[in-house]
Amino acid sequence: METRRQRLAVLVSGRGSNLEALAKSVRSGLLAPLAEIVVVASNRPAAPALVKARTLGLSTLCLPSKGREREDFDAELAERLAGYRPDWIALAGYLRILSPVFVRRFPGRIVNVHPADTRQHQGLHGYQWAFERGLAETKVTVHLVDEGLDTGRIVAQRAVDLRGAGSLEEVERRGLAVEHALYPEA
Ligand code: GRF
Repeated sequence: METRRQRLAVLVSGRGSNLEALAKSVRSGLLAPLAEIVVVASNRPAAPALVKARTLGLSTLCLPSKGREREDFDAELAERLAGYRPDWIALAGYLRILSPVFVRRFPGRIVNVHPADTRQHQGLHGYQWAFERGLAETKVTVHLVDEGLDTGRIVAQRAVDLRGAGSLEEVERRGLAVEHALYPEA
């Protein structure tokens, strides 16, 4: 039986709350016996998530995407990440669509957390989408990443109760709490 801990590369662009949730789980939670974070990579040098990663003592890789041609950037990022021999690439607020050159390098091995049901809402602003529709419930989704926009196979989903949530901030607060539990579990 395979007992080796799975090597995770986490990709971030922004705040990094899901990165923190994953790191916490790896350190002392569900993921502790199962996984290790071998690198946190960002396309944005100013991402607060990078600061969080360093504070957590994780290896970081910063490869600025600004001004670069997409395929070129993705090919270099894939190559650099491959050097860490990751078993899984976990997107955690990574604000770029991955081109086929990247996806094909890690087929079936890229996961993402999405703030809506990917069958109902794709792309950005999932909580705003739910809030503006006055939904009583939305669903956080963890899915595999394929070459489409949020079209990969769903791995896990959990409902977020939005009844009585009177602001976008409240919708987001409730949603993120579910994301932070569901992503490490998935
Ligand atoms: C989360 O809502 C996630 O579902 C979406 O982007 C946001 C990232 O937040 N893909 P954070 O950077 O993990 O705090």
